[in-house]
Amino acid sequence: MNAVPVFYATTEGHTRLIAQQIASTLREQGLDSEARALADDMPPVNWLDVRGVVLGASLHGGSHQKVAANFARHEARHLSARPSAFYSVSLSAGSRKPAEVDAARGLAAAFAKAAGWAPNRVACFAGKLAYSQYGFVKRQILRCIAWREGAPTDTRRDYEFTDWAAVRRFALDVAADVHEQTRTPAVRAVG
Ligand SMILES: Cc1cc2nc3c(=O)[nH]c(=O)nc-3n(C[C@H](O)[C@H](O)[C@H](O)COP(=O)(O)O)c2cc1C
Repeated sequence: MNAVPVFYATTEGHTRLIAQQIASTLREQGLDSEARALADDMPPVNWLDVRGVVLGASLHGGSHQKVAANFARHEARHLSARPSAFYSVSLSAGSRKPAEVDAARGLAAAFAKAAGWAPNRVACFAGKLAYSQYGFVKRQILRCIAWREGAPTDTRRDYEFTDWAAVRRFALDVAADVHEQTRTPAVRAVG
């Protein structure tokens, strides 16, 4: 098991892309990290080897993936015992309407609270309107959501809204949390 795994749940793939970017930044900061897809039948995590942890999931129909909620609930004790961070991916997070952005933040905070997990950091990233990946019905639903959010409704192309600089800052903060936690016991031992 790597030292700072980035677990993720995704439906259309964008949360995986963000997880891979976070893991890449963590590696750049000298940490062993890789993006790992959550699955109900995944092997148990060896928490003894984990120095910090990131979990990501995306919003569909107002909630995050069940596999992520189950993982957070079952592993809450281990997640809270080390530097940990949650990121939520959605269209609302990139909305021009402050109430929608607030709603995305509220759902992300509620996700951790419902699991009994107290992450050091919670971030909301705007995702992607992947019209080309949706079937007819999904495309109409997303067109309605997009209209509500003030996002593009021309379904002939895809639109990505992610602020990659913010994703990088988030990963750098996580790396700092992990490095800080590693330093602190050593200082205490000397003192
Ligand atoms: C069927 C469907 C429902 C969605 N519901 C919401 C929603 O309730 N709120 C929201 O902000 N975004 C919603 N989205 C947008 C997704 O969160 C966004 O496309 C995100 O990038 C998906 O990430 P993923 O590719 O990792 O699954 C929805 C997308 C789809 C396809």
